[in-house]
Amino acid sequence: MSALFESFTLRDVTIPNRVWMPPMCQYSAAPEGPSTGAPHDWHFAHYAARATGGTGLIVVEATAVSPEGRISPYDLGLWNDAQTEAFRRITRFLREQGTVPAIQLAHGGRKASTDRPWKGGGPVGPDAYGWAPLAPSALAFDARHPVPTELGVDDIQDLVGRFADAARRALAAGFEVVEIHGAHGYLINEFLSPHSNHRTDAYGGSYENRTRFPLEVVDAVREVWPDDKPLFFRISATDWLDDGWTADDTVRFAADLQTHGVDLLDVSTGGNAAGVRIPTGPGYQVPFAARVKAETSLPVAAVGLITDAEQAEKILVNGEADAVLLGRELLRNPSFARLAARELGGEVRVPEQYHRSI
Ligand SMILES: Cc1cc2nc3c(=O)[nH]c(=O)nc-3n(C[C@H](O)[C@H](O)[C@H](O)COP(=O)(O)O)c2cc1C
Repeated sequence: MSALFESFTLRDVTIPNRVWMPPMCQYSAAPEGPSTGAPHDWHFAHYAARATGGTGLIVVEATAVSPEGRISPYDLGLWNDAQTEAFRRITRFLREQGTVPAIQLAHGGRKASTDRPWKGGGPVGPDAYGWAPLAPSALAFDARHPVPTELGVDDIQDLVGRFADAARRALAAGFEVVEIHGAHGYLINEFLSPHSNHRTDAYGGSYENRTRFPLEVVDAVREVWPDDKPLFFRISATDWLDDGWTADDTVRFAADLQTHGVDLLDVSTGGNAAGVRIPTGPGYQVPFAARVKAETSLPVAAVGLITDAEQAEKILVNGEADAVLLGRELLRNPSFARLAARELGGEVRVPEQYHRSI
C-alpha cells in the first residue's frame, strides 16, 4: 500500500489521497482588459483536467479579497456575487470527480498591481488597469516597484473583515477548504517579516506585534468558516535573509496558528525580497516542512520541486510531511496522480469515461 494514496481526514473533510495541487495564478480572468475577477473557461478547463487526473485536493490560485489585493489586473477575486457564482461551476465539477476543492485567499500587498509574467511581470499603473499598492510600511519591494501606501489601523481592520467576507463567499461557492496566503512576500508575509514591516504601532516590532494582523485574519476567517471544514495557512518558512522571518519563527508561529484553529501548514519559502539566492534543488523546501512536523503537532504539506512518484512517496514514508503539493509537474502532467498510483500500486479514482485507458 502506498502512503501517497492513503486518504487524509482533517475535521470532517476526507481527502482521497496525498497528491495535491498548490495554488498557481493563471492571470487569466480577463485576457484583454480589466478583470471582473471571475473565473472563465480557462480556469474551468485547467482545474477540471487536474481533477480528472486524480489529484486529491486542488488549491485554486491566489484569489484576491479586494480589488487592490490582486497581484495583477487579471487575477481572480472573491468580493462580489458574480465571482462567487462563477466559482460554483468549478467546485461542482471537482466534487463530482472526488477532488476536494480548496481556494487560496490572498492580498498582494506591495507586490500588487503588476503585469502578467509573460508580459514581463513589472508594476503597472492606472494606464494599464493598475492601482497604488498598499503595505504595512512604505518600503518598495525593489527599485522597479513603487513605494506602497502604508496602511492605517482602520485599513488593517477593514482588510481583516475582507478576508472574512471572502471566506464566507468561498463557502457559498462550494469550497471545502480555505487557505490563507501568508507566503511569498505578499501582504500577510510583509506583516510577519521584520524586513518588510517597520511599523512602530501594535502591528510592528516584536514577534507578537508582527503576527497580530495574520492572527486576526485567521481568527476572523475561522469565525465564519464552518467548524467541520479545514483551514490551511501557506507560509514562507524563511525569507532567506539575515534581517527577515526565519525557520525558528515559523516553528513558533505554527504552534500559534494551531491554537487559533489552523489545521495544516503549507510550507513554502522566499518571495519577500528581490535578488535573494535560494538554493533550489529537488525537494529543497521539504526540510522546512519536516521541521514543523517534528517540532509541533500541526499537520504540514511540502512543496517545491517534487516531481516524481517515488520522491513524493518517500517524503511521506519518512514522516517529513502529511501531503505533497506538485505545482509545475501538474502543469506538465495533469494525470500525475493516476500515473503515480500505477507506479506505486495505489488506488485512484479514474473517470468512467477513461476506464479503457487504465
Ligand atoms: C504559474 C505559477 C503560479 C503560481 N501562483 C501561486 C499562487 O497563486 N499562490 C501561491 O502561494 N504560490 C503560487 N505559485 C507557487 C506554487 O504554488 C509552488 O509553491 C511552486 O511552484 C513550487 O512548487 P513546484 O516546484 O512543484 O512548482 C505559483 C507557481 C507557478 C509556477
